[in-house]
Amino acid sequence: MKVLTALLTIALVGATAAWAKTGSFTYDDGSSYEGEFEDGKVHGQGTYTWSDGTMYSGAFESGLPHGEGRLTWPSGAMYEGPFQAGEMAGTGMMMWPTGATYEGNFTAGRINGYGMLTWPDGLTYSGIFVTETIEGAGMLMWTDGTSYEGDFVGGSIDGSGMMKWPSGDMYEGGFMGGAPNGEGVYVWATGSRFEGMYENGLAKEGTFYVTDSDGRELALHGVSGCRRGLDGRASRRPDVASAGRSETKEIGQPS
Ligand SMILES: *[C@@H]1O[C@H](CO)[C@@H](O)[C@H](O)[C@H]1NC(C)=O
Repeated sequence: MKVLTALLTIALVGATAAWAKTGSFTYDDGSSYEGEFEDGKVHGQGTYTWSDGTMYSGAFESGLPHGEGRLTWPSGAMYEGPFQAGEMAGTGMMMWPTGATYEGNFTAGRINGYGMLTWPDGLTYSGIFVTETIEGAGMLMWTDGTSYEGDFVGGSIDGSGMMKWPSGDMYEGGFMGGAPNGEGVYVWATGSRFEGMYENGLAKEGTFYVTDSDGRELALHGVSGCRRGLDGRASRRPDVASAGRSETKEIGQPS
């Protein structure tokens, strides 16, 4: 694209005593650049501003953001971290105007790999993401003290894992769609426990163990009484989309 104005100056950069070319350019599409360049391409430290107000400030290499930089969107979202060939890549940090934050790995401009996402309400997830979806092993912590550690599939609690409640109760076993499913053990803070099969968060069949005042353990077969503690709160799921997503932006090419 044609450069409309090119104010080329030779400036001394820092105290390195190295001579670098700096200048400011305005592009036909309304975007502009101010900073270092080389061979007609933005290269070195500079700031590129898109016509919609999106702004990148940081390192450039051969015409693209490359190295450490900061990208801010008109929405108020912000990314700070490494770029590779114009895309967010590596360990960076993203903040959304909602208050949601992400700290972790990015691949090709998207949340991918290990990271930690915090929702505006304080819910946090630390673990693996596969292109912006919670997938694999991770841990969720709600602000009320409830936590889940285990497998996730397609953003949902699915596979095997352990959920703990602020009451001291815990469940370890299979999950599906955010609720205990399959084989599992539910342990109450009192020490009683249920071992058996679950379906959609409800105990289906198994054995209930209680310890009497003499410390003897009694095994009761059946499910009566085993549902308490679980109903209504076992099914919890995070919503990644509600926290925010990464946004990519093509950089204009000067020529
Ligand atoms: C982290 O990001 C880098 C750069 O995009 C990528 O090469 C690497 O595979 C990612 N790591 C994981 C665990 O996804």
